This record gives sequence, structure tokens and C-alpha cells, in this order.
Amino acid sequence: MLLHIPEVLTAEELAHGRALLERAAWADGRITAGQQSAQVKRNLQLPQHLPEARELQALVEAALKRNGLFFSAALPKKVFPPLFNCYQGGMDFGNHVDNAVRSDPFDHAWVRTDVSCTLFFTGPDEYDGGELVVEDSYGAHRVKLPAGDMVLYPSTSLHRVEPVTRGARIASFFWTQSMVRDDAKRSLLFDMDMAISSLRREHGETEALISLTGNYHNLLRMWAEV
Ligand code: NI
Repeated sequence: MLLHIPEVLTAEELAHGRALLERAAWADGRITAGQQSAQVKRNLQLPQHLPEARELQALVEAALKRNGLFFSAALPKKVFPPLFNCYQGGMDFGNHVDNAVRSDPFDHAWVRTDVSCTLFFTGPDEYDGGELVVEDSYGAHRVKLPAGDMVLYPSTSLHRVEPVTRGARIASFFWTQSMVRDDAKRSLLFDMDMAISSLRREHGETEALISLTGNYHNLLRMWAEV
């Protein structure tokens, strides 16, 4: 499942986040890359312990906590502290699959990467290139979203970021360990949740809807690891 989640950040959060990103000291993006991806990764990244990075992490985490679509699609068990990257002057990130497990730099707990997210801080009119290209069994999907919007996709996907030939592409990216590790099961639960919500809006609470909602929770209970 590849999902576009609009307006994850408010205009105020976006403006504040951009001000922090502008004054922070960027470093070489290979600080968090694995062996294979270090060879194809050419970008800048915020060191995770910088005060600006800490404030930005809290800002993104707060936005995720209030986002119902993110919760329904990711079914988060643990979110890796959000990272921030910048591509400019021809920088790109070639095809790779994200590392399967990562150690949280703050509490040192392992996080299995089930779901990958990119949250955009600059908009499509501010740079050329820089599309996130995600490949799945239906082909290659090219993603370039408004500032404040986010894309969510399975971490099992092969993906890349195209060279940025004008301006700067600044984004937050992070991984989530899901209560439901399998993408097919997660997608089924998400579709079911969306259909139930839409039926509830159209028809109000009915006996059949109560039963369907029960089915959703019983499937989640069958598959969730908490
Ligand atoms: Ni990646």
C-alpha cells in the first residue's frame, strides 16, 4: 500500500519547522546509511542529537499522534525518531531497500522497519527533480507532494530519490514498527477501516456496521503483536 496523507503539518508547524531546518548544521547523509545504501546515497542529513533536530522530532511526533489516517494505515507500535534530509545541487539517492532493523539512538531499543514515511517540508514549486520513486508489483510510483503532506509505503519496497537539479528538497523521513508486520494484512485492515468509516458517515450506526466493526477488531486481535 502506498498512501498519500494530506496536511499532516499545520501552516504554523511548517513555518516553524522550516525556520529550524534553515539554521541547523547539516551533515553528510551517510551517517545513518547501511553498507549498500552508503554507496548510492548523496544527500545531507541533520545529526539526530542536535537541539534543532530534537525539536523537529517532537514536532513531527506530535503531528503523527493526532493523525487518524497515519494510525489506521501504519498501526504503529514504535516510531523511529524522525530524521531530516536535504537534497540540492544534483544530490540523489539511488535504488535501495531500507535496513530491516534499526537501533533507536535515544533509548537503544530495536525497531523493525515495517512502514516508511516521507513528510515534505518544501513544496514541488521550490525544486526540480527529487521525486521519490517507489517500486512495487504494480510498477514504479513517482511521488512529489505539497509541503506538509506525507507519503507512507511498505519498507520492503525498492525505492530511490531522483537528482534535485534546482532548489532544495527538504523532508522528514522515518520508519514505523507496526503492530501488524505484514503489508498485505495491514492494507486489508486499512481498507476495511476506511469502508466502515464511510458506511458510518452515510448510514449512521446500524446492526450490520456494529458486526463489521467487531470483525475488524477481531482480525486486528488475531494479527497484532503488542
Ligand atoms: Ni530509503
